[in-house]
Amino acid sequence: LNNGLALTPPMGWLSWERFRCLVDCQKYPSECISENLFKRTADKMASDGYLAAGYEYIIIDDCWASKSRDSENRLQSDPDRFPSGIKALADYVHSLGLKLGIYGDYGTYTCGGYPGSIDYLELDADTFAQWGIDYLKLDGCYAETDGMEEGYAKMSQYLNNTGRPIVFSCSFPAYKDLEANYSMAVEYCNLWRNYGDIDDSWEDVRDIATWFSTNQDFLRKYAGPGHWNDPDMLIIGNFGLSLEQSKSQMTIWSILAAPLIMSVDLDNISSEFRDILLNSDAIRINQDPLGVQGKLVSNDNKIMVWSKPLQGNSKYEGLALGVVSNRTDGYYYQYDLSLSQYINDQDAEYVIKDVFSNQDLFDGKAVSVDVNITVSVPPTGAVLLLILPQ
Ligand code: GLA
Repeated sequence: LNNGLALTPPMGWLSWERFRCLVDCQKYPSECISENLFKRTADKMASDGYLAAGYEYIIIDDCWASKSRDSENRLQSDPDRFPSGIKALADYVHSLGLKLGIYGDYGTYTCGGYPGSIDYLELDADTFAQWGIDYLKLDGCYAETDGMEEGYAKMSQYLNNTGRPIVFSCSFPAYKDLEANYSMAVEYCNLWRNYGDIDDSWEDVRDIATWFSTNQDFLRKYAGPGHWNDPDMLIIGNFGLSLEQSKSQMTIWSILAAPLIMSVDLDNISSEFRDILLNSDAIRINQDPLGVQGKLVSNDNKIMVWSKPLQGNSKYEGLALGVVSNRTDGYYYQYDLSLSQYINDQDAEYVIKDVFSNQDLFDGKAVSVDVNITVSVPPTGAVLLLILPQ
């Protein structure tokens, strides 16, 4: 969507994967979907380096609304869980330098059973803008899939008409698979979910990565500045991924130029996981201004190599290489690669950095493409290399 927003993949935090539709604040006092959750998360984003690293949007997912609209048919937040209302929450979030996102649904109900927008698209766009919303995720539950693209296009226009810059995250591709009109996604959306929901497991990370690599020739055509494929949230720091698996998710998502949207309890994340989320080289790879979605280039002996071109210097492009293991035998697998396999510009020299160990290879000396590199990859872990021309 050519609205000047999301020129690099959006970064932020979304409540869904970690906090779901927890609405019982007696049972889950610090985790229920409430203004308290979003305020404490916003505080952490601002104080613990996430905002400084680029994680800018804090996004409310489903289950924030009251079950009924108000007397003028406007959406309203649940009065017990959001006693100050969404506008006040937006003001708070903005005072910290963050931006606020919210969730709606194109159909008659949200996936969690809250009011949908189908009959009120324009009114809801206006309401969100009046509240100071900066990002809308519009889901597609309880809706006809025929004509969905046209409906989302209308909403995109209504958001534009408000005059407020609002990032628009669409879901119709996820509901229509590759039958969806992807050109319309590019034209009307800043990002869009393509595939199923991520839950808290390595299986899900692997399944999503497999789907993206299987369909990469199709999907990559539609990604670029202002319009991104979205493989769903980062689950790093939760219960399902080991530290090494977290590096794998960060590697693949960075190479895919995926939106980096965390879903984790920022008051209860240990520092090693936080360091992965905040890794400035991984983020640099993800946020590269060329905005090219990378791809899987080889998969031998259950070792995947993913690559993404990067902005380099005036003469040569840079490159990120992610070596991700699907192996389950318990040792560091020694994987040999030669730079010349992945680089077109055979006469340039490159400085190579191992992103997660924060080590320069070859003592930081520039090397020619003929060098052979051996990376040590643990089971289901990853090594991410940042390769920049001298
Ligand atoms: C769908 C979406 C999820 C989340 C839930 C909320 O499943 O794909 O990301 O928004 O709805 O109910």
